Amino acid sequence: MMNLWCSIFLLGMTNAMDSKYYATSTREMASLLQIEDELIENMRDYAKELQLKVDKMRIFQKEWITRRALGHPDPTTYVANPLVSFPLMRRMYADAPKLLNLARREMKGGALQKLLSRDLTGISAQDLKMAANGLIRFQGVYGLNESEMANGKLYDKQYNSRLSAADCLALGTHLEDQQKGKLACKWLRISIDQYEKSLDPVNRLLKTGRSQIYEKLGLTLLSMHDLPASQAAFKKSIEWASKDDNSDLASHLKDNLAHMLVHLDNCRGKNPTPKNSALRCRYFTEGSLFLRLAPLKLEQLNVEPFIGLFHDVISTAEQEDLINLTKSRLEHKQVDLSSVEAEVAVNASDHVVRIHQRIEDMTGLNLAASEPLTVSNSGIGGQDFIHLDCKQPVEFVEPFIPEYHTATVMLFLSDVQMGGYASFPDLGFGLRTNRGSALVWHNIDNSGNCDIRSLQATCPVLLGTQWVARKWISGSGQWRRKPCRK
Ligand SMILES: *[C@@H]1O[C@H](CO)[C@@H](O)[C@H](O)[C@H]1NC(C)=O
Ligand SMILES: *[C@@H]1O[C@H](CO)[C@@H](O)[C@H](O)[C@H]1NC(C)=O
Ligand SMILES: *[C@@H]1O[C@H](CO)[C@@H](O)[C@H](O)[C@H]1NC(C)=O
Repeated sequence: MMNLWCSIFLLGMTNAMDSKYYATSTREMASLLQIEDELIENMRDYAKELQLKVDKMRIFQKEWITRRALGHPDPTTYVANPLVSFPLMRRMYADAPKLLNLARREMKGGALQKLLSRDLTGISAQDLKMAANGLIRFQGVYGLNESEMANGKLYDKQYNSRLSAADCLALGTHLEDQQKGKLACKWLRISIDQYEKSLDPVNRLLKTGRSQIYEKLGLTLLSMHDLPASQAAFKKSIEWASKDDNSDLASHLKDNLAHMLVHLDNCRGKNPTPKNSALRCRYFTEGSLFLRLAPLKLEQLNVEPFIGLFHDVISTAEQEDLINLTKSRLEHKQVDLSSVEAEVAVNASDHVVRIHQRIEDMTGLNLAASEPLTVSNSGIGGQDFIHLDCKQPVEFVEPFIPEYHTATVMLFLSDVQMGGYASFPDLGFGLRTNRGSALVWHNIDNSGNCDIRSLQATCPVLLGTQWVARKWISGSGQWRRKPCRK
């Protein structure tokens, strides 16, 4: 048995021979076992002391609650009796502080300190990755059946060890990170099979329950563009979240699923116009003096939050220039391999300078603190899944941090033959955007919070190639300038 598992980790070694990783040798792995044993002991000591403390608290509590329950329900009548009011006063003056002190008191033997001083930072994500790679390679090289392997069967031998649901979930997550979606899904499904009901409390604590496994499966399928299977997984996830009384997760997933369904309809051209539309096309002259001379064609799509499509605002020469400036240095974004992008400095060319001026005119916002314009190119399948462009600041601050994206501007530099719609899943519409147009939307509501209604996505390109330039307009310093503020 030992030999077999040794070789799993030795297979991991080919990745990195660095001895500082636990995953590189069985000796190091054995020291992890020792750390685990010590942790168990620390935790037991801590739990014992904690239990003593809890017992004492309970004694206090029980007496308080029992007496309170016997008293008159109306407070004024109750305390009118001096035999009640004096003891109440005494308890609050003398007993309550003792109780609080008990709560505050350090525990004997520093069990908590010992537990907290454990340094686990030496065990790295790289370690986990290497161990996972080793396991997957082992399975692949020897052509083992994943599901049998998870149940302890290696070759024809049955071992008395198995992978738990949490183990399989971690493997699936690891594989997804490595862009191995198909294998990831396999392991996530095995994770469901391996789930043990008796471990419900632990899984609830560690957030590795069935709802979370199905959620991960849904997300993985989504990244593989398998939308029907992804929806089915999300539905399962909601079911389990409801069964497990995890109403927060259930409602979060329900919202996500609803947005996803609307988004699909949006992409299929079923919701080309906003529902509550008393909106119209007009000539936009409000941004600056210049616009009174040369008004822009604005199709206002939504009022709150503002969403507008400006037609014919980027000339053919400007479109070409943006593409020329970035073509040779486009790079993959980290997560999505279906598109590439590059930044363009404000002073990169006269065209770019003029484009920035026009964006200021269109939005009435100052671009000084904003991030550079980003040009991106996506081919077939390229998409930007449902996301918010804003970050909710922890504290309300002014001027806002630069990452606080007040508004987004997307310039369309090409026509896509099929697909590539701009979708607003919460507002329920998705539209085709023509070359030369600019889509502008606000991400922040009138009270300065990130506006969930500004959820946005770009549908997968079915045919053709999509060139888009995106400008995130920073909130820095311009709160007062926001045109719609009441
Ligand atoms: C793996 O083993 C399981 C259980 O024995 C079986 O149901 C499944 O079909 C096998 N998968 C493959 C690909 O052979
Ligand atoms: C973009 O590059 C092409 C080919 O190199 C060139 O013909 C065209 O003039 C350039 N466009 C602009 C606006 O610079
Ligand atoms: C743009 O500005 C930066 C810094 O101010 C400067 O280093 C760079 O040379 C400029 N680029 C062009 C094309 O003018």
